[in-house]
Amino acid sequence: MRNFSAIFVFFFSPMVLNPVNAQPVTFERCAACHSGKDTTKDLGPSLVGIIGRKAGSREDFRYSRPLARSGVTWDERSLDAFLKSPDQFIPGTRMPFEGIVSDAERGDIIRYLKTLK
Ligand code: HEC
Repeated sequence: MRNFSAIFVFFFSPMVLNPVNAQPVTFERCAACHSGKDTTKDLGPSLVGIIGRKAGSREDFRYSRPLARSGVTWDERSLDAFLKSPDQFIPGTRMPFEGIVSDAERGDIIRYLKTLK
């Protein structure tokens, strides 16, 4: 049993957490469009410093009007609502993402977003 758990940790933990920066697996769904570094990709704005930032405020990305004018400031609550259902929280957003149903997965992502400074 002890051996089994050692094997389990060895093989499976890299799939759950990337040990370098503890990026949750679910963030891979965001990473196609969003960088965790201070460089904006074509498909989506960088998420560096997202906590405390006004929605739609990066100079290097052309946001949709609804997002830019939403008046939202990103914190745990607004991110949670947005990631649960982007289009419901900001109707007309151009983020083509269906949302994350699982509270735990959204929690993991938000915890990770807090580390992006
Ligand atoms: C297919 C591309 C795509 C995927 C996948 C995606 N996003 Fe986005 N995201 C966008 C685009 C485009 C915008 C800008 C939307 C707008 O202007 O209305 C955006 C905006 C955002 C914003 C607001 C940024 C700001 O500066 O105000 C946050 C936060 C965000 N995304 C988080 C995430 C997270 C977390 C995930 C993964 C769970 C994710 N996104 C998945 C394309 C994507």
